[in-house]
Amino acid sequence: MDRLTVCGGAGLNGKIPISGAKNAALPCLAASLLAAKEIALTHLPAVADIRTMIKVLQALGCDVSADKSEDGFELSAIIKTDGLKNSEFKAPYDLVKTMRASILVLGPLLARFGRASVSLPGGCAIGARPVNLHLDALQRMGAEIRIDGGYVEASVTNGRLVGIDHTFDKVSVGATENIMMAACLAKGTTVLRNAAVEPEIGDLARMLQAMGAGIEGIDTPVLTIHGTDSMSGCRYAVIPDRIEAGTFICALAATGGDVTLERAAPDDLRPLIDLMTRIGCDIDEIEDCDKRDGATFKRMRVHREAGRVLKARDVSTAPHPGFPTDLQAQVMAVMTQAAGISIIKETIFENRFQHAMELERLGANLRVEGNTAIVAGLSPLTGCTVMATDLRASAALVIAGLVANGVTTIDRIYHLDRGYAGIERKLQAVGAKVQRVKGGRV
Ligand code: UD1
Repeated sequence: MDRLTVCGGAGLNGKIPISGAKNAALPCLAASLLAAKEIALTHLPAVADIRTMIKVLQALGCDVSADKSEDGFELSAIIKTDGLKNSEFKAPYDLVKTMRASILVLGPLLARFGRASVSLPGGCAIGARPVNLHLDALQRMGAEIRIDGGYVEASVTNGRLVGIDHTFDKVSVGATENIMMAACLAKGTTVLRNAAVEPEIGDLARMLQAMGAGIEGIDTPVLTIHGTDSMSGCRYAVIPDRIEAGTFICALAATGGDVTLERAAPDDLRPLIDLMTRIGCDIDEIEDCDKRDGATFKRMRVHREAGRVLKARDVSTAPHPGFPTDLQAQVMAVMTQAAGISIIKETIFENRFQHAMELERLGANLRVEGNTAIVAGLSPLTGCTVMATDLRASAALVIAGLVANGVTTIDRIYHLDRGYAGIERKLQAVGAKVQRVKGGRV
């Protein structure tokens, strides 16, 4: 199992390319199941979760070919779904257990083929994460669902889902995506209320439009989807990863220096940009154009002068456009280096403070009370061996390692590899002393 060693103390200076958004790429890959025609996706991040979703599609009978970009940080994929006709439409446990987002194939499969068998994802490191919101809405659309042998066995008796007017009991990114995809091939119109408005959902909706779907209300909590009989193929470029960009901004805030993020999407990152500006970083946004596909993006220059002390601030996570839970751990690492007390509240997931204990091992002065962490800043951190417990917790440990004295060894970085493309190469390019150690102890 690979480890990462981080030798702290260096400021970061230079350029970092931002990969496509993992959380947009995953539903976009699942959406390819809706069309009988070829789908071409570009700017997929070259991370383990994307490879897992490709394996799920292949296990279902899709023909998927993927090519790496020159720098190795992104993939382009061509997906053909013709081979699905006689399959069992089964997403197996071995794949689903490694990545909950596999449940996103349920809606598209049911909508197009009238049946699907998808392993229940089960719990994960950051809490129970049920799928009741996905299943409730699909049942209301006419699906019969039973749980058998750990699988969601779903079918549509009359062969086609029907449009509904549905209010989600709770805001859910995955449920909004799954039901929006299912509604595209349903009979009639579906209205989804209390829908999540994360930028990745807007990206998926735009891909669905490119496939011929009629969707109104994109980027709002009320989505109206006009069902159609069939969907076409498309070529679609996934948006930049706001969480990856946010992680590098946090790293820069903690270490100091001057880094430019290339192909970023600052409009999707307002809560973090606002926080970082208030605590003592400067962030400039510069218009840019991607030479590969002509799309316009922004470069973000993030800098913190040497000797400028960060000021602690409180943070509370919330669904978009609130502060993203996926940046809570990284911000906690930053607040260990800010002057004052910071109160960090996690409102989305029940068990998302596992990084707190590991940060304490590095010397952070903090206390966890229920869903709140109280961080006393300006702690001198000292390198030691720590364990990655989930994807974003791992990123927080990398950031802490970058400011710790001595060497921090991070075990179990397969968590990190799920969502960060070549993180050690990107950090090395801006002067960080980070090395991947292949194999070794757990
Ligand atoms: C997605 C993101 C994840 C992010 C999360 C919240 C992907 C692949 N993952 O996860 O990185 O942290 O959004 O922004 O896009 N819930 C239920 N019942 C359900 C579904 C969810 O109770 O059927 C609860 C969850 O337990 C959680 C909350 O709703 O407490 C939000 O979860 P949700 O938005 O669905 O997260 P995911 O889509 O799994």
